[in-house]
Amino acid sequence: MRGNYDNSAAFYDNLSRLVFGKALVTAQVHLLSRIPANSNVLIIGGGTGWILEEITKMHSSGLNISYVEISDKMMDISRKKNVGSNQVTFINKPIQQVMLNQQDVIITPFLFDNFTEVNLHPLFAHIHAMLKTGGLWLNTDFQLTGKWWQYILLKSMLLFFKVLCGVESWRLPDIGRQFNKYGYEIIEEKTFFNDFIITKMYNKTI
Ligand SMILES: C[S@@+](CC[C@H](N)C(=O)[O-])C[C@H]1O[C@@H](n2cnc3c(N)ncnc32)[C@H](O)[C@@H]1O
Repeated sequence: MRGNYDNSAAFYDNLSRLVFGKALVTAQVHLLSRIPANSNVLIIGGGTGWILEEITKMHSSGLNISYVEISDKMMDISRKKNVGSNQVTFINKPIQQVMLNQQDVIITPFLFDNFTEVNLHPLFAHIHAMLKTGGLWLNTDFQLTGKWWQYILLKSMLLFFKVLCGVESWRLPDIGRQFNKYGYEIIEEKTFFNDFIITKMYNKTI
């Protein structure tokens, strides 16, 4: 399947930190403290799994985490992370082939920029069905706010990962429209790296 980051697993974190410093991490960590104790958490496209350790710093036990990652190599690295006494199920499959019910929290960190607008629609509907009403969805991704360098950086990244990992998209899909369409409420948001990165916490209302 396309968008599998196997070929970049060995250097992904170093490269992203070289380009963005701590911004990718800070943006994702920003909302993790909002995860309620003892909840069911679904993480999709977590990469090398460092987010598991960040979550564990806030909740050392009590969480039931499903960690879905399409890349075998990313998954191998993720399995070695410290998850404290949390229960983590590692699912090495594309999220399109996974169905879980009644999740309290869903986390999608830099997942949707891998998809074209057309493929985003069924993917979004599929993920939406797994979140319980009243659940939280933490989404972090890039956004364009009209600064020329953002456009250049985005296109360079998409080209790089298209060649290396078969990423299908050339532009950012309109993820905000999907959240609107499905009746989500934005509870909190914050931008990073001169507005190029945005993290939002949504509440599923219907
Ligand atoms: C841009 S990377 C982000 C990694 C990580 N969230 C981070 O910020 O360091 C996207 C990740 O999503 C994974 N991925 C892409 N498509 C996926 C799918 N359909 N199901 C599950 N994981 C997927 C890739 O293998 C990759 O690890």
